[in-house]
Amino acid sequence: MSDEPKKAGHIITIQEHILGQQRNHPTATGGFSWLLSGITLAARIISANVRRAGILDILGDIGNANVFGEQQQKLDILANKSIELCLEYRGNVGIIASEELDEPKVITKSGTAGRYIVVFDPLDGSSNIDVNVSVGTIFSILERDPSGFNTSDPVTDVLQAGVKQLAAGYIVYGSSTMLVYTTGEGVHMFTLDPSVGAFILASEHVKMPEKGKCYSVNEGNANSFPTGVKRYLDWCKTEEAGPFTSRYIGSLVADFHRTLLRGGIFLYPPTAKSPGGKLRLLYEANPIAFLAEQAGGAATDGKKRIMEKIPTSLHERTPLFVGSKTEMDRLQRFVDEAK
Ligand code: AHG
Ligand code: MN
Ligand code: MN
Repeated sequence: MSDEPKKAGHIITIQEHILGQQRNHPTATGGFSWLLSGITLAARIISANVRRAGILDILGDIGNANVFGEQQQKLDILANKSIELCLEYRGNVGIIASEELDEPKVITKSGTAGRYIVVFDPLDGSSNIDVNVSVGTIFSILERDPSGFNTSDPVTDVLQAGVKQLAAGYIVYGSSTMLVYTTGEGVHMFTLDPSVGAFILASEHVKMPEKGKCYSVNEGNANSFPTGVKRYLDWCKTEEAGPFTSRYIGSLVADFHRTLLRGGIFLYPPTAKSPGGKLRLLYEANPIAFLAEQAGGAATDGKKRIMEKIPTSLHERTPLFVGSKTEMDRLQRFVDEAK
């Protein structure tokens, strides 16, 4: 595979692409591509249900709350179950951890073959389901510590810094269903062709534009943003800046997908309601940060690189700033000057 960004000139399915990536790793056993095919299968199931949500009466909540006390939507549960089932039978997944599961789940039937950990947000942007706005799925793949196979507490196995990710990606259920992933060798984008049920390569080695005059933040929380963030956003509104365009969908995957393709910056700062940030480190910020960096962008929590943060709990939250290098550097200058 060349490392130049290029549009695919012919039909390449994601399976072929993953196998091609596999060939770049002589030590690779093919188990990794087998695992990723479990994720693509789940993605097709979730996509089919997202697209028929109104008909299948799976809108609305089920009357349960998850560990965050958030109302679980039927699609959250369906998406979570789909991923669990598709991964449990891969044989090489040892632990799964999900936004919708209070604790990680050890897949005992995998035994010592269960070398991979998959951490995921099965349905991102749940609040947008009932109003037909894009939602997504986010996943991150880690490796189990072989000595950890006997740990009684799988949480310790899961709490790894983002730099340890073997792969990360998301599926965005938008006007089309797209899957975007990286194994550390660039970011690659696929579009689901529903007529054949295959993800077809759309772009390889996607690069985030170095600059971008679009910021994406929930301005409703602006009064409680840190001073440096407020000053940066005020600058974005000046003639000197352009001014910037503001776009906010409220689904991280959709807001990031646009930032990846168009450039600019996404911000979820600390707020009065979420002083430590709202987004979860392990299965939202880390995978998004891996993709951003692989595409030439950057991702921080306002102080440090997201991928260097050492998680201390499974559902730990973090502030997230992610986007084009130029804007991330400019934001950091405003934050540093405000100290
Ligand atoms: P989830 O639906 O998985 O809980 O994620 C929702 C997140 C994320 O998708 C989005 O960026 C953010 O919540 C939006 O939060 P606000 O509605 O507070 O802006
Ligand atoms: Mn989410
Ligand atoms: Mn979610």
